[in-house]
Amino acid sequence: MKQQITMTSSAQTPPVCDYEGSGYRTDFWEGKGREYEDLVERIALRRLLPPRGQCLLEIGAGFGRLTELYAGFEQIVLLDYSKSQLRQAQERLGRSERYTYVAADFYNPPFVDSLFDGATLIRTIHHAQDVPLVLQQIRRVLAPAGTFILEFANKRHLKAIIRYWLHHQTWNPFDPQPFEFAELNFDFHPQWMTERLREADFIIERRLTVSHFRVPWLKRCIPPRLLAAADGLVQWTGEWWQLSPSVFVRARQGKSGPPPSPDGFFRCPRCGGKDWQHSQTMLACQTCGARWAIDDGIYDFKSSLD
Ligand SMILES: C[S@@+](CC[C@H](N)C(=O)[O-])C[C@H]1O[C@@H](n2cnc3c(N)ncnc32)[C@H](O)[C@@H]1O
Ligand SMILES: [Zn+2]
Repeated sequence: MKQQITMTSSAQTPPVCDYEGSGYRTDFWEGKGREYEDLVERIALRRLLPPRGQCLLEIGAGFGRLTELYAGFEQIVLLDYSKSQLRQAQERLGRSERYTYVAADFYNPPFVDSLFDGATLIRTIHHAQDVPLVLQQIRRVLAPAGTFILEFANKRHLKAIIRYWLHHQTWNPFDPQPFEFAELNFDFHPQWMTERLREADFIIERRLTVSHFRVPWLKRCIPPRLLAAADGLVQWTGEWWQLSPSVFVRARQGKSGPPPSPDGFFRCPRCGGKDWQHSQTMLACQTCGARWAIDDGIYDFKSSLD
């Protein structure tokens, strides 16, 4: 990937792969020969998304490439660490009440418990050094029985296996541990990810394998729509084996308990407080005094104003 990405660290949470100011949209997607990848991800997401819902959290939303697919939900919260990505999403989707733009770290999402009945994490967990912590936070903000859709990069895909057997690659695709192929970019073993999901109390409902034909010569020879349709036909095999570079999982929040009655909306990322003084440009936490900016429609929980 050519876009400028830096690493950001804080004492309390793992480092972040920071897309601030990056050209993710123009350097990776637009006119870059990835129409096939975009199409197959849309097919998988449509298959996994519940038809209707109230409030969905899109984690690592980026520039909102996939947000239009969440049309069945009444309210959509786009969370991303990068304000510049969120700004592009805002330009794309507009400023209606339907969308809330939140700049924050997925290790510390600034929401009260059980707020969402849906959450998605697409092309984003590969930037997580601490996957259990991310999943634990998603579990916290999801309501009992809420739907979680996760996409992850599969280290045990067919091309990696063949390359390994032919000794063209040193790392072992069968080793369950995540493989960091570049700083803060991880590929995951499907079994390892299944175990982390179960540990975080998620019940896996469905698995789709995606992007089977992500092979340069095939993409050159076959029109993207046709290739994507073929991928759509074999995505279902993900229930039995996972040999594609991308895997989508739909899981259900396994928390038991009464139907959700979330206590407010935002939770202070510094102290966990839920009492706020709200102005046009700022949210002030009444518990610890931290002040968080609202910058032209983007709630900024990355660093407080004081
Ligand atoms: C590869 S992009 C994917 C964007 C979008 N989901 C898509 O599929 O087009 C990864 C996104 O994750 C965000 N991200 C990375 N680390 C993050 C973190 N710790 N907290 C919140 N967002 C993060 C980046 O800013 C970036 O927008
Ligand atoms: Zn606070």
